[in-house]
Formats: sequence, C-alpha cells, structure tokens
Amino acid sequence: MSTFQGVDHAGIGVADMDVAFDYWMHKLGFTEVFFDYTGPVPGLEEITKTKSTKARIVMLGHKNTTRLGPGKVKLVQRLDGDGAPPYPAGIGYGEVGLAEVCLHTLHTEKIFRELVDNHGVKSLMEPLSAAVGEQQIELDIAYFADPWMGKVELIDWKGLWTSRPAKPRIEGVNHVAFGVHDMKVTTDFYQQLGFTDRIFESTEFFGPMAPWYQVGRALPGHHMTLWLSGKGAGIEPVRLTPLWEDCRGEWGHVGPMDFGIGVQNIKKAVEELKRLGIEMHSDIQVLDVGNSEFKYFYFKDPDDQYVSIVETSY
Ligand SMILES: [Fe+2]
Repeated sequence: MSTFQGVDHAGIGVADMDVAFDYWMHKLGFTEVFFDYTGPVPGLEEITKTKSTKARIVMLGHKNTTRLGPGKVKLVQRLDGDGAPPYPAGIGYGEVGLAEVCLHTLHTEKIFRELVDNHGVKSLMEPLSAAVGEQQIELDIAYFADPWMGKVELIDWKGLWTSRPAKPRIEGVNHVAFGVHDMKVTTDFYQQLGFTDRIFESTEFFGPMAPWYQVGRALPGHHMTLWLSGKGAGIEPVRLTPLWEDCRGEWGHVGPMDFGIGVQNIKKAVEELKRLGIEMHSDIQVLDVGNSEFKYFYFKDPDDQYVSIVETSY
C-alpha cells in the first residue's frame, strides 16, 4: 500500500467558531468531532512568519462519509495577531491557492435546494449536470458559499457510483481544488504522492463560473484535472491562462485555505519525502489533542501551497 493515502482533510479558516459549527455541523452534517484543540500551532514559522501562531483547530468528520466522500473538514480559527486573516482579494477560481472544498452528495439538487431555500445558504452556482472525461462520467454539481464566502461544491459522481440506494445526503469531502502555475509540474509531483487516477481533464473555460470573476477582468482560460488516490479524497489542480496574482493569502484565512494528506506512519512519510527530494517546512509536530495526538508537518509543493502530511491516528 502506498505510504500516502489521499486527502485526509480540507482546512477551512473561520472567523467565529460558533458560526462555523452552525454551518458545518448543523447544516452540512459534519457532526463527528475528532478533536477540538486550542493553543500554539508549531511548525508554521516559515509559513506564517511568526513563532507564536495560535489557533483553535476542530477536526470534523461526516456522519455519512463514504469512499467518494472520505475527507474530513478541519476548521481553523487564528487566535494570534488580528485573528482570522481576510479572504484573499481577487479570488475567482483557479488562482494559485485553495479554490474550493467539494463534498460528495447524493441528489445534489435536493440538498442544494434545501440549504439555499430553507437554511439561508448563499448560492454560487445553481445545480447542473455534465459528463466528463473520455468515459463521459456523469455528475451533478452545484456551488454555495461558506459563511465567509469561501466556495463549497456539491458533487454527485453518478457515473462512478451509480446505484447506491440512499436518501438525499451529503457525505464527506470528495476533493479540494487549487490553482497552480504549471499543470504538468503539479500533477507529476502529486502522482508521486499517490494521486494516480485521473478522473477527468478539461481545457475549456467552464462557463457557469463566469460570474465569479471580478467585473472588468477578462475571463481566463481554464485547464482542470481531477485525481483520486487509492484512499482518501482527491485533488483538482486548476491552471488559469493567463495566470492571475497569487491568492494563497495568509495561512488561516477564512474559506478553504489548506489541506492535509493522510499517512499511517508519519516517520515513514518523512523518509519517503526525503527520498523524493521534497522539502519540509518543519520536523514532525505533535499536538496533544486530548484523547489522541495530532501529528503533522507542512511541506513544499511546486507552488508552496499550504499542504501538510498528517498521521491519521487521531
Ligand atoms: Fe471541484
């Protein structure tokens, strides 16, 4: 088995944990609390340029998680400095930085309508159906906003999982999307980390996203690919033409902002990264999170996104 086990979680910055709980737990069903930690977050010195990064970090799993929705959500509220940094200016979709978190969802339209019509969730893209890739895999998608206007996608991979008999429901995280400078460099890099199954590749501008780009900005070209790993959630690198400004923002900014790749044995993962020549931002960090330990370190991907390796024993 590969050392690397797909995306363990999507990291989402929040400005108020009560508001975030109402949204992620009560509206979207991420009710399984793996840990709820408040304190120093070491190992981020190179990323946050401070020795005293402090945050509340809550790791949530979905009660209906499945193979197509295996990822968790990590809510992060920065407590040092001025608190949660703002959503990076200029984000449309696909600028370097995290673009979205996507949840696998059976009966996307019913779930979307319930949230938008009855629970005050803001729509960012009405439900639509498409078929992607050489195999014309069918899917239904829709987008809405998190409380700070971060992008949350719903996807029903009907063509990958056609006959699951179940009522409408959200499952866990299916993938995270992020903008990159060079599609081939990024996909070669992440294939080494176990993201080997390319589900689709698209080189056409995705028209329904047009309203997301600032007025006056020319609509960019879109090159998107989506990769799944043997375990865990997937990744969706996006390359804009022309490239836009760097929208990684500060670590902990509101909205989707980082992700973690799961491993069973973090020491083995360090050896593997060294073998691959991948640089780490710190040694292994261990947080006491009550009934368990949260072990992680951040490493440098080709765009120096905020990406960590996490041992999945919490
Ligand atoms: Fe997506």
